[in-house]
Amino acid sequence: MHLQKQASVAKFKSKEALIGIVGLGYVGLPLMLRYNAIGFRVLGIDIDSHKVSKLNSGESYIEHIPSSKIAHACKSGFEATVDFSRVSECDALILCVPTPLNKYREPDMSFVINTTDAIKPYLRAGQVISLESTTYPGTTEEELLPRVQEGGLIVGKDIFLVYSPEREDPGNPDFETRTIPKVIGGDTPECLEVGVALYEQAIDKVISVSSTKAAEMTKLLENIHRAVNIGLVNEMKIVADRMGIDIFEVVDAAATKPFGFTAYYPGPGLGGHCIPIDPFYLTWKAREYGLHTRFIELSGEVNQAMPEYVVSKLVDGLNEHGKALKGSKILVLGIAYKKNVDDMRESPSVEIMELLEAKGSCIAYSDPHVPVFPTMREHHFTLSSEALTAENIASYDAVVLATDHDKFDYELIRASARLIVDSRGKYRTAAAHIIKA
Ligand SMILES: NC(=O)c1ccc[n+]([C@@H]2O[C@H](COP(=O)([O-])OP(=O)(O)OC[C@H]3O[C@@H](n4cnc5c(N)ncnc54)[C@H](O)[C@@H]3O)[C@@H](O)[C@H]2O)c1
Repeated sequence: MHLQKQASVAKFKSKEALIGIVGLGYVGLPLMLRYNAIGFRVLGIDIDSHKVSKLNSGESYIEHIPSSKIAHACKSGFEATVDFSRVSECDALILCVPTPLNKYREPDMSFVINTTDAIKPYLRAGQVISLESTTYPGTTEEELLPRVQEGGLIVGKDIFLVYSPEREDPGNPDFETRTIPKVIGGDTPECLEVGVALYEQAIDKVISVSSTKAAEMTKLLENIHRAVNIGLVNEMKIVADRMGIDIFEVVDAAATKPFGFTAYYPGPGLGGHCIPIDPFYLTWKAREYGLHTRFIELSGEVNQAMPEYVVSKLVDGLNEHGKALKGSKILVLGIAYKKNVDDMRESPSVEIMELLEAKGSCIAYSDPHVPVFPTMREHHFTLSSEALTAENIASYDAVVLATDHDKFDYELIRASARLIVDSRGKYRTAAAHIIKA
């Protein structure tokens, strides 16, 4: 009975396995590079033919992944394709496709389901399928398991199914794919064993949990923990500000406690593909059990109100100068959702820009990581990044520091701007023209 399992494990241990990565985005590409670097052949499968041809010609489309690395991978056994029939060649299929929310803020499972349906006809005995997309507990069991078994393959015996969430901290130079411990749960103990054999080759520390559901919930707990704590510190920021206390000074002081406290910093709101979205996957699923996720909803409410708070501080600042938002020239600094990256998904800066535009301000932005405002599904600005010269900065009625990239010249901004609205605690010394937001 265990012959298939043993054969699959042996293929990963000997590095003879062909690793299939489905979805070549922020999660899939680093994983591809890691398997490639340790000598595995990797086949990347994506529905986006533009990305596929770019990758095949050795070019990256993500700023923090250099083209040289993609080019090197292409020369050493990496290939990308849009042809799903090649799924049958792969020994592992690692699914790294998006899991956004729909317009009703409910899980949009269409990417996961479409991908599973697309690979389904080409599944064969001996393969391991690993879902890495962040999702609600029960997804692997309820959505993947029946589809994988449709063609007659038995999960745990012929084919192996696991869930192993991705963990990443974009822009953090201290961690890489290899050094970030990876949690994994299998549909059966046999699935887990094969899944661990797959990941152990590439990741220093693989942590097994008892089920795919436990692994799915682990990822959500991690991200809900962040969303709730950021919500808490954002609320504290408003209270502290009203009391004339600098919240950044307070967080730094509290962080000197060597136990029982983790520092979270306030900001203009939540951004990125994960923290503003993932918690609501649990909210949706909990409803099936007649339960409300009050912490998630409350922190969502606080965090979503932050762009408006920043705008209200800007209104106060302009008011002091006898100006209204309408007709004022405002420069937003940093439109990526966090410092030193080019990712703009769910960026609160964009919401701030929209709020300002709706009130009649004349908007511009500067972001060294985003030279041109990209085409986005729900946001439209025909803008490109402004150069930060003293003269240009001084030509705006106010600048709003939304994302504190290291590449900004903060002294130049301080010296040249007429009014600075600082949502990141970058300017700690009080000055008449600097407002904390
Ligand atoms: N970006 C992060 O830092 C991060 C961190 C942890 C977890 N995650 C999770 O990982 C998952 C993927 O996120 P991402 O940031 O890599 O997304 P992404 O949008 O960067 O990449 C997804 C890729 O999947 C492709 N794709 C879409 N539908 C497909 C299909 N049917 N078949 C094949 N390919 C398809 C897209 O073309 C795209 O290239 C999400 O669930 C996300 O929540 C992301």
